[in-house]
Amino acid sequence: MTDMATLSLSEQSLREILVDLAKEAQLRRFEVAPNPAVGAAVISGGQVIARGFHEFWGGPHAEVEALRNAAATGIPASAWDALVVTLEPCSTTGKTPPCTDAILASGIRRVIVGSLDPDPRHRGAGLRQLQEAGLEVEFVPRASEIDRVAPHFLRWVDIDRIRRPRPWTIAKWAQTRTGQLSPPPNVGEGRWISGPESLKEVHVLRGRVDAIVTGVTTVLYDNPRFTVRPPGNPAKPPLRVILDSYLRTPTDGRLLEAPGEGEGAGALHVLCQAGANAARHVALERAGVKVTGLRSSEEDHVALRDVQEWLWTQGVRRVLLEAGPQLLTRYLEAGFVDQIRVYTGPVSGGEGPSMAPWFGKLRMAERLDREVGGDAVLESFVLGAS
Ligand SMILES: NC(=O)c1ccc[n+]([C@@H]2O[C@H](COP(=O)([O-])OP(=O)(O)OC[C@H]3O[C@@H](n4cnc5c(N)ncnc54)[C@H](OP(=O)(O)O)[C@@H]3O)[C@@H](O)[C@H]2O)c1
Repeated sequence: MTDMATLSLSEQSLREILVDLAKEAQLRRFEVAPNPAVGAAVISGGQVIARGFHEFWGGPHAEVEALRNAAATGIPASAWDALVVTLEPCSTTGKTPPCTDAILASGIRRVIVGSLDPDPRHRGAGLRQLQEAGLEVEFVPRASEIDRVAPHFLRWVDIDRIRRPRPWTIAKWAQTRTGQLSPPPNVGEGRWISGPESLKEVHVLRGRVDAIVTGVTTVLYDNPRFTVRPPGNPAKPPLRVILDSYLRTPTDGRLLEAPGEGEGAGALHVLCQAGANAARHVALERAGVKVTGLRSSEEDHVALRDVQEWLWTQGVRRVLLEAGPQLLTRYLEAGFVDQIRVYTGPVSGGEGPSMAPWFGKLRMAERLDREVGGDAVLESFVLGAS
């Protein structure tokens, strides 16, 4: 057991620090998922001198942020007593290098954690590595348990999901007050439901996923580009994936245009049924599209299970589904949606089927309702549908 006196902090104070960190980390749950929400603090002279959080998926982890913020205080690292972190630090390379490397490089001698990594492949590994390097490691029980702070992460590292992996899928759509995804013809050029502030958020989200998935009908109706523009990060744009069973994607659409100045456009993939029209296949590939044949579903569309597996083999871990009601419904029915973000614009009525019945059927968790511009935004994790 660590000698608390040298830290000038009681176990009770450490618990309070962990509880506060966990509460604040949780506010970023929809930004970081499927990663866990994590917070960290550096303690010096019995005081928290710096804190850090995992702010968004793909971004620096909380430990790295806290150490960076501590360095910025000007208090020398030799005077740092401990790093407090809500979850055991990672010891493997993911989107970012292992946090254990950053902790060891900082010279800090003590690490206090509030929860062990629930992933059976990594549990205890980070703490062992730090202990073997001679650091003092301490666990404060019941301070920031993962099932309270980041239950979505437990679903991500569930043994069945590890055995049969599929990307974390965020379904995003804009709807009218009555749930239609296309506005009445006289509104928003028959296309736009949500306002410019919402669109900015969508660009940020696009910059933080590995792939955008849509259905061919959306391509045919909207002629979209699925680019990333600031305030989104266009540096590593997501793959653009069209589910198009019969290769109806046009070769002269805006998807094939080069991105504009400051924009990012990921590689364009069309997933069709194996053996779909050979001439169309050649024409699309000549136009720069990568075409992949997959098995067909009972309904004669590309099979979504195969789509999910294909995405995983491409290294895709976080997907944004930006589709119309048909494909959205299939994804929801299949249980492949992990998270939703729904923008409801200030207009009623519209064209096409309404998504409204889904709000009675979806089992949502940790739901958040907020506003942006003139739109209402609903964010939630999805546990399934009844
Ligand atoms: N408000 C919004 O957020 C939003 C977003 C996107 C689109 N939209 C609107 O939605 C409308 C289009 O709606 P939609 O529902 O027809 O488009 P969609 O869902 O994007 O595309 C449907 C098409 O996807 C293809 N598909 C491939 N695999 C599938 C599978 N396993 N299950 C189901 N479909 C599969 C099917 O064509 P094949 O069988 O030929 O492959 C199907 O016709 C447009 O008016 C567009 O403006 C709105």
